[in-house]
Amino acid sequence: MSEQKATNVHWHGGEINRPERAQLLGHGGATLWFTGLSGSGKSTIAVALEQALYQRGVLVYRLDGDNIRLGINKNLGFSAEDRAENIRRVGEVSKLFVDGGVIVLSSFISPYLVDRQIVRELHEADNMPFIEVFVDCSLEAAEERDPKGLYKKARAGEIKNFTGIDDPYEAPEAPEVHLHTDQQSLAEEVEHLIALLEKQGLIPAAA
Ligand code: ADX
Repeated sequence: MSEQKATNVHWHGGEINRPERAQLLGHGGATLWFTGLSGSGKSTIAVALEQALYQRGVLVYRLDGDNIRLGINKNLGFSAEDRAENIRRVGEVSKLFVDGGVIVLSSFISPYLVDRQIVRELHEADNMPFIEVFVDCSLEAAEERDPKGLYKKARAGEIKNFTGIDDPYEAPEAPEVHLHTDQQSLAEEVEHLIALLEKQGLIPAAA
């Protein structure tokens, strides 16, 4: 699905480069990739982190599974093939933001190791920071939260191929960050991520 179909197309570079955009903004771009079960807390963390970064003057943008599936990826479902295409497209979109100097918070279940690895490699190939954040939460806790009532529907057989119920979730083997949302507070999680971004020099140190 991701083969190059168009022929005779070539990258057209501009006159403004990544370091120049970083100079304008005071920081460069990076992707924080949040992966985990539905209801694990990916979007909640991304929303809180977005707010904290914005307050520090960082240009940040969220890409969220449900939102993206209402627009650019509205033609994709939840088969393994469609999930792969969902993640591939979002990986490419994340890269465009990173090239633009934005800190991107991409929250997708992204259940397959291979799909996440492809996105990582796409970033690495263009020398772009990629931080995989495993939003870990037991299935029991996610199901107990069930913020959208989807686990209940999946258990009742009303939704097929639901991650964690009748579809797999492959946990990251070596994520840069491993959060346990059934044990940590939201504030601790945000603090941890901000500290990491500072330590890696991806955002300026607090004034
Ligand atoms: S992914 O697997 O392709 O990464 P994505 O994060 O975009 O998934 O979308 C997941 C969201 O779609 C869930 O939070 C949930 O609200 C909704 N959803 C609907 N059907 C399913 C399903 N079968 N499996 C997982 N999530 C589903």
